[in-house]
Amino acid sequence: MDTQTMNAGVQASEDQKADVSVNAANAGSATVATENEIHRITDINSASDFELKHTPNVVVEDVDDGKIIKVGIGLNGIAHPQTEEHYIGWFKVFDGSNIVGELAFAPTTTPQAEFKIAGVTERLIVQAYCNLHGVWEACL
Ligand SMILES: [Fe+2]
Repeated sequence: MDTQTMNAGVQASEDQKADVSVNAANAGSATVATENEIHRITDINSASDFELKHTPNVVVEDVDDGKIIKVGIGLNGIAHPQTEEHYIGWFKVFDGSNIVGELAFAPTTTPQAEFKIAGVTERLIVQAYCNLHGVWEACL
């Protein structure tokens, strides 16, 4: 079984989704984030704690009939809150531009998920949505 972690491989994807730079000054904003803005860490070596705690933490295992994709939230041990006021609302997994898995979380539920994906044909992308800070993406 081949295991691949994504921590070192976070980078910008070349897809057509909106690209929004991270503005840490907005980190305390009470405004509910939209799901149309996608944030990505472009350089893991200079990423802030704010960026690290919002980025999906993904482990991919190859199995005979596809891949097991284990998703949590936060890199380098930086934890994201999960409270009524500030929480991770969902994970989505894409095979290229096609959504192949999604799971929603209540504010009181630990945001962890495991997806089994058969027949991956393009680049895997995992997104996490924070109710205050929007959609954060990691690409394999
Ligand atoms: Fe957040």
